[in-house]
Amino acid sequence: MKRLYNLVLACLLIASLSACGKQAGTDSSADKVSKESGQTESIETTEQQPSVASETAQTEVQTESNLTDGQEQQTQGGGNTVTGDISFDFETKTVLLNSGYEMPIYGIGTYSLTGDTCVESVSAALNSGVRLIDTAYMYHNEESVGEAVRNSGIPREEIFVITKLYPNQFSDAEAAIEEALAKLDIDYIDMMLLHHPGTGDVEAYLAMEKAVADGKIRSLGLSNWYVEELEEFLPQINITPALVQNEIHPYYQENDVIPYIHSLGIVVQGWYPLGGRGYTAELLGNEVISEIATAHGKSSAQVILRWNLQKGVVVIPGSSNPDHIQENTELFDFELTEEEMERINALDRGEKHDWY
Ligand SMILES: NC(=O)c1ccc[n+]([C@@H]2O[C@H](COP(=O)([O-])OP(=O)(O)OC[C@H]3O[C@@H](n4cnc5c(N)ncnc54)[C@H](OP(=O)(O)O)[C@@H]3O)[C@@H](O)[C@H]2O)c1
Repeated sequence: MKRLYNLVLACLLIASLSACGKQAGTDSSADKVSKESGQTESIETTEQQPSVASETAQTEVQTESNLTDGQEQQTQGGGNTVTGDISFDFETKTVLLNSGYEMPIYGIGTYSLTGDTCVESVSAALNSGVRLIDTAYMYHNEESVGEAVRNSGIPREEIFVITKLYPNQFSDAEAAIEEALAKLDIDYIDMMLLHHPGTGDVEAYLAMEKAVADGKIRSLGLSNWYVEELEEFLPQINITPALVQNEIHPYYQENDVIPYIHSLGIVVQGWYPLGGRGYTAELLGNEVISEIATAHGKSSAQVILRWNLQKGVVVIPGSSNPDHIQENTELFDFELTEEEMERINALDRGEKHDWY
């Protein structure tokens, strides 16, 4: 009788273990990312839940021959462990951040665009299908970006706005976050970056973490942080950044930095993708780039932007010219060969076009 009782007990145990296994197997990978990223509570209670697409992203992206970062990545950042697939989905034109949110892989940068020029440029970009906008306190245009977003008629959740805290704001980051929210006036901030390393940056980041918990900001990131800076910074914070935005263009490629950041499960975004104002003519006129552009029937700008995407770098070219803005979205009807990628990789001169 006792043996029969034990047998029944064992069967019940096996049945319940197998049910648990199935349950775990139904979790989407993005749910997994959200739960492990340390941003769980605010994400799971907010309305934008983009992660369903991630399974498609993971399977489809692996068929993209041109991207190498399709593997699951793991890292320790402060107290949290992050697991994420940061490869680009060229179908949806998005990447799944380690915060659980999806972000477009191309957008518009707004440095040096102010007032009506900024409103008109961002509106033109939104009309051209752009859904990622990069602004900053230091660009003095958060109000204009907010105005264009609000007036667009596009559902708020479909637009991804990045803004940044400048080092002179770090000492009272809480107030600076409120200021950004008020200036943008778009309910919440999709992503906030620290613009540069500086005194009080850890405390400022911790204030942004609190704003994430309060549902004011959805994802966090850093700008102008390189290998050494990241190694020092990450153990001091709790939420691993979802993104690092650094200078990247064919003359300054950061080929040592990008793989390191990717290995942490962090998405890389390039500023000055076209070299930055004052340098674009030289870069767009580069013989190798022009030759490749002619071969594909595309412009030099499109070739450079596509080269970035195939390296796993998100692009945010700045422009106030509606034709250029439209042109900068047409990056998905051609693909650079490995040889063409190599030819552009060979143009690296380690030539920075700004000091930071
Ligand atoms: N985190 C940081 O420290 C940092 C620093 C710098 C920049 N950024 C961000 O990165 C963004 C990009 O940088 P950026 O705007 O300074 O430089 P950029 O994108 O490299 O170059 C902008 C210049 O390229 C021209 N351009 C754009 N598309 C073109 C096209 N298809 N054909 C020909 N010319 C084209 C623009 O002129 P038109 O207006 O005539 O098109 C403009 O003069 C900034 O807007 C900002 O959001 C961040």
